[in-house]
Formats: sequence, structure tokens, C-alpha cells
Amino acid sequence: MSGGPLPAGGPAALEAEVRAAFTPVLPPMGLGAWSLDVLIGYLPTHTVRPAHPYAAAHLHCPPDPVAVEADQLVAALNPSQDSWDQSAAASVIEACVIEEYSALAFGAPGSGSITSGGTESNHFALLLARDAALARAYAVDPAETGIPAAAAGRLRILTSEVAHFSVARAAAQLGLGERAVIPVPVQEDHRLDAAALSQAAKRIAADGDTLVAVVATAGTTDAGAIDPLTECASVARKHDAWFHVDAAYGGGLLLSNVRRSMLAGIELADSATVDLHKFGWQPIPAGLLLTRDPQALAPISRRVAYLSDLDDEAAGYPNLLGRSLRTTRRPDAVKILAAGRHHGLDGFTQMIESCFAQTAHVAAAIEARPEFELALRPALTTVLFRYRARNGDPDRVNAEARRALLAAGSAVVGRTALPGGGPGSLRLKFTLLRPETTNAELDALLDLVAAAAHACDVPSS
Ligand SMILES: Cc1ncc(COP(=O)(O)O)c(C=O)c1O
Repeated sequence: MSGGPLPAGGPAALEAEVRAAFTPVLPPMGLGAWSLDVLIGYLPTHTVRPAHPYAAAHLHCPPDPVAVEADQLVAALNPSQDSWDQSAAASVIEACVIEEYSALAFGAPGSGSITSGGTESNHFALLLARDAALARAYAVDPAETGIPAAAAGRLRILTSEVAHFSVARAAAQLGLGERAVIPVPVQEDHRLDAAALSQAAKRIAADGDTLVAVVATAGTTDAGAIDPLTECASVARKHDAWFHVDAAYGGGLLLSNVRRSMLAGIELADSATVDLHKFGWQPIPAGLLLTRDPQALAPISRRVAYLSDLDDEAAGYPNLLGRSLRTTRRPDAVKILAAGRHHGLDGFTQMIESCFAQTAHVAAAIEARPEFELALRPALTTVLFRYRARNGDPDRVNAEARRALLAAGSAVVGRTALPGGGPGSLRLKFTLLRPETTNAELDALLDLVAAAAHACDVPSS
């Protein structure tokens, strides 16, 4: 146990302790209520706690207590969103959430799905994009026929070199292959280079290949960079391609009355990924895939006798199978609605402003401290920086310092590599998503990082 955001001791010691305390998972004789008491006593001090001010690594927010309470209600009631007769009110709540969030993104209600997160949302968007492209360019419905041989190896997706890896993974899962994804270079600020995007799209056309989608990122995972959305939209439109915005992180700005305009151009997208379990204070999972066209999800709908027969629908019982790629699923919309009504746009605006103010404070503090180097001016609420090693290899010193903080249980700081990777590219990262954190806590976190790095700054052997 430590006063920090995670247990001290590192992975091996923790694994031994957990196995000793909690296995077998299926004892021959049940242990009764006592076993839950043990779990309740143990877990809160032995998981990583994103509500701690020194848990500042990932897009991993402290969950809003109101949303947590609504989520417990859902767990107790256990509705399922695959048919009206397992859900009732929760299915209407889901429709209302999708309507309002899609209207925030596109200016008018569209459609969408509540997903397990950005990975599923990006997959879903690229599935819609692939099917639209194949219908357009090859006059087939791949849901029926699969990908025609003539299209194999000819379908392309353009996205920036720092786009989230789930884009490439989706391309692989959708039968396009990861090589279908052509990385477009970014500028120094990690924003996609629009001129390079336009050139790449022209090359695809010249080769006789099909541009399935342009995927822009609104809030890259590390730098928080927002791609030039309007320019990306115009390249997509010119080439008849789907325009998807991965706003898994930056989509939180839709909730801010003062920062929403940073997403200008998102209204031109065919679809957008927004993760409310990142910059939206929801318990995991709370992903949204939003589409501008209210009918965009029609192709995924199904009718099965045991969930949604035609006469039930004619009698007014809606078929819910067109709302998700999953079948049985929990109503995550309920916690989204609960937090939305509790805070309102005004409350979210203030929470977001607090995170931006913290980011400005940390960036200024790093610049003022000679032992640190700021990598980039922050775009959203992440800060990329490193300790200026004097004696050891900077990548090793910074990596070891981060692990030392993890092992001591004192802080969770992120690490990543600048685009291009290679020696000298490692950077530490703060992701600031906790509105209550004070500047004094952030200064103390920087002190912790500096002390750990100083201790690791010895000549490399
Ligand atoms: C830009 C971006 N897109 C997609 C994802 C994937 O989201 P998830 O982890 O919820 O699947 C992430 C995760 O950090 C992300 O940063």
C-alpha cells in the first residue's frame, strides 16, 4: 500500500499477492459473503486510481460519481439493448443520447451507436465506409458477398502517421489488410499535412485504386493535435470517400461552450468517434460512434424472429438490432444521460476549462525548470516533455525514472515516442483529465519526476 495512485512493489510481487489471496477462482466449496468483503478491502488500494492527482499518464479519467451511481443502477436492473422487451425505457434513453450528441457534432440529429470505445467506433465507421465504397466502385454489398476479387489490394485508407493504431487494426479485421492504410506525414505540431493528404489521394486515383476513407484525428493520443478537419473533408469529398473523424479524445470539446469551435469541420464528417470515458468523465465503457446521416446504420440492421419480428414492429415495438454491432449489451446511455443532466453544458465547460488551465500551468512550469524540456506546445490537455539527462542516455534515464515511480507506487506518468521513433524520441507524458487537481499538486508531481530522473541519471554501462 502507498499514498500514491497505485500499489508499490511492481508487477511480479503484485501478481504473487493476488494469486495467493484470490485463487482458486472456483474453489470446491463456496467461501460465502466473506470473500466479497476481502475483495472490497483489497481492490481499492491495489488498483490504479485515476482519481488520484498523480495518476496522469493515460486517457483514463476519474469517473464522475453521478455516472457511477447510474451505472450501479443499470447493473442491478440488467436491461439489455438488443430488444425492446429487455430494455423499455433504457432504449429510449439511448436514442435521446445519440440524437443530442450527434446534433452537437453535426448541427442536426444524425444517428449512431453506443460502443465499447474508440477501437470499436473506428472499426464500425470503417465498416460503413468499406461497404459504401464497394457499393459505389464495385456495385456489390460485401455484407452479402464478401470483398470481390477485383477489389483485393485496391482499397485504401488515408490517415496521419500518428493516428491511433485501431485504424490499421480495423483495416486488417475488415479484410483490407493493414497495408491498405497509407500514413500521411504530420507537421511539427503533429497535425496532418493537408497538402500531403491531397497528393496521396491523387496518387491513389492515378493508380486506379479506391479511396475508402479519409480518417482525421481530433485529439491525437499523445500530442492532442487536431488535424485540419475542413481540409480533410474537402479531400474526402473530392474523391468520393467517407470522411471519419476520430475524436475519441478531442470529442470531449463538444461539451464545452467555449472550446467546441476547436472542432470546426467535424460537422462535415460522415462519422465521428467520441469517447466519453476519456475526456467526458464516464466510467469505462462509454464510446460513441456518431453519423451525420440519420439512416447511416440501416445496412447493419437485422431481423430475427426471437428478437424483432415484423408484426411486433408494425405494432410499435421498435427493432433495436440496427443500433449496434453487438447483440446483448448494457445500456451505457443511462450513465451518460445521468451525468449530462447533472452537470449540463455549463458544468462540463468549467471542468474542461480547469483541465486546460492545469495544462497551461504544467507547460509553463516545465519551461521554467532547467532540468526539463518541453517537447511541444500542448494542443489539448496532454503535456509531452523529458528530463534533460546530463550523464546517462536520455531515453534510458526517462524510461527508468517512470518505472521507478511505478514501482514505488508514487505516480503514474505516461511515456511515448515522438513521430519517427528512434533514439532520443522517448518523451514522458502527462494527460490531465482531473478537474480538481491543484497547481501545487502538479508542481509536486514534477518534483517527484525530477527526483526519480535525477537518481537514474548515471552513466550508461
Ligand atoms: C485517438 C484515439 N482513438 C482511438 C482510441 C481507442 O480508444 P479505446 O481505447 O476506447 O478503444 C484511443 C485510445 O487512446 C485514442 O487515443
